[in-house]
Amino acid sequence: MADDGQKRGEEEEQVVNPWEVTAKDGGKIDYDKLIEKFGCQRLDRSLVDRVEHLTGRPAHVFLRRGVFFAHRDFNEILDVYERGEKFYLYTGRGPSSEALHLGHLVPFMFTKYLQDAFKVPLVIQLTDDEKCMWKNLSVEESQRLAHENAKDIIACGFDITRTFIFSDFSYVGGAFYENMVKVAKCVTFNKVVGIFGLTPEDHIGKISFPPVQAVPSFPSSFPHLFPGKDQLRCLIPCAIDQDPYFRMTRDVAPRIGYQKPALIESSFFPALQGETGKMSASDPNSAIYVTDSSKDIKNKVNRYAFSGGQDSIENHRKYGANLEVDIPVKYLSFFLEDDAELEQIRKEYGAGRMLTGEVKKRLIEVLSELVERHCKARAAVTDEALFGCTHRLFMNKLPQMTTVEELDNEGYNLPPLKMNATLSCLFNVFFLLLTLSPLDSRGSGEHAMVDLNYLPAFKDVPDYDAVPAFWDAIRSLVS
Ligand code: TRP
Repeated sequence: MADDGQKRGEEEEQVVNPWEVTAKDGGKIDYDKLIEKFGCQRLDRSLVDRVEHLTGRPAHVFLRRGVFFAHRDFNEILDVYERGEKFYLYTGRGPSSEALHLGHLVPFMFTKYLQDAFKVPLVIQLTDDEKCMWKNLSVEESQRLAHENAKDIIACGFDITRTFIFSDFSYVGGAFYENMVKVAKCVTFNKVVGIFGLTPEDHIGKISFPPVQAVPSFPSSFPHLFPGKDQLRCLIPCAIDQDPYFRMTRDVAPRIGYQKPALIESSFFPALQGETGKMSASDPNSAIYVTDSSKDIKNKVNRYAFSGGQDSIENHRKYGANLEVDIPVKYLSFFLEDDAELEQIRKEYGAGRMLTGEVKKRLIEVLSELVERHCKARAAVTDEALFGCTHRLFMNKLPQMTTVEELDNEGYNLPPLKMNATLSCLFNVFFLLLTLSPLDSRGSGEHAMVDLNYLPAFKDVPDYDAVPAFWDAIRSLVS
C-alpha cells in the first residue's frame, strides 16, 4: 500500500485526508499531484465514452466535465457490466450538519445517475459514529442528524427498491462486525498512523474507526441483501479525500478472500470565496445550503462568489474575465446542464463581452431552481417513505430491498400484498413449500430455517405477530 503519510515537507504543500483539505499556500488543490501521490488512475475520455456506449445514454455532466476525474479499477466494473453481470454501489455521508450544502449533494447526484444508468443496488452508510467521535457530538445528536440527512439523501431521487440506507449505530453487528474484525486484524497501528496521520494523542475511537467505513465494500457485510454473493464487485463513488479509507480496504481485501472495491473519485466543490479547498461548515457564507431561500442564494452569490471579472467595466471589456478563478463559472460548470449555453457564457465572459453581474444572475436562477426542486422532494420524504430503504435504521425491521436476483426480473416492482394474517400465512406456506424442496435436497433433510421476514406477505409484519400466525397456518394445514 502506498502510504501517503503526513510527512512534514508534504504537509506544507497540500494536505488531503478525510478530515482536512488544504491547498498549498492558499492556492488551488493540485489534482495531478494527488493522483500521483495516492496512486489512483486518471479517468480519461475513453472510459467516459465506454460508459456512454454501455449504458446507451449521455454521460452525466460530472463525468463529461471531469468533476469525477480519478478512479481505481473502474474499467473492471465496466467489464463486469459488459459481461452482463451485476455489481453494487456503495457511498456514504458523515452526518455532521443538519442541512446539506451543494458540495454534499455532488456525490449523491452522481450516484443516482450511476444507479439509474446501470440499474444496480446501492448501499449508503451514514457514519453517525464517525461524526460523534470527530465532531464531538453526542450519540443522540449524531443519530438525529443521520435521520435528517437520510431524508435529504433520499430526496436526491434514488430508486428506493434498490437502495439500503443504514446508520452505523443501528446497523453494525453480525456479519458486518465479523468483517470489521477481519479487516482490523490485517491493519497495524503503524499502518493506520501512516495512512491517516493520527497521533498518539488521538483517542482510540479514531484508530478503530477505519474498518467501519471499509466493510460496506464487501457484499458479505449485507447478508440480507446479497446472500451467497460474496464475490459481487463494489463500486464506490466518493470525493477523493475518502481515498485513504479505501486504499486500506483494497490492501486488505485479497488477504481476507474478498474482491477489492473499485472507486470513482471527484474533485472538491469549491467554496463561494474561491477554489482553495473544501467548503467550511463553520462559515455559513462559504456555501449554498439546500435550506437557503432564493433570497439567501441571491445574496450569497452576489456578495460572496469570488469573481474573475476585472475591477472596472473598461478593464473588463478590455481584458475579459479570468475564468480559471471565477466561482460563478465554476458553479455553472457543475449545475448548468446545457453544454452549448455553458460554452457560450465562457466565451462571452472570457472575452469581456459579458459582465460578472450577468453570469451571477444566471447562476442564481440555476441554483434557485435546483434548491427548490430539492426542497420539494425532501418535503415529500416522510418517515414512512424512509422506512422502505432504512428499516433497521430507525424502525428495527428487516429490509425490503430488491435482491440481486430480483433485479433481473423487471416485473418485480409489485406493491406488497395486503392480506389478513391467516390468508397471508396460507400464502406464505404455499411459498414456503415451493422454496423448501430445493433447500431440503441440499440440506440434511431434517431442518429448514425460515426467516419469515423474507416471505413476501410478512415483510411489514413484526416477528411477534408473524411467528405465531405462521404456526397457526401450518397447524391449520396439517390438522
Ligand atoms: N467518511 C465520510 C464522510 O465523512 C462518510 C462515508 C462513509 C463515505 N462511507 C463512505 C463517503 C463511502 C463516501 C463513500 O462524509
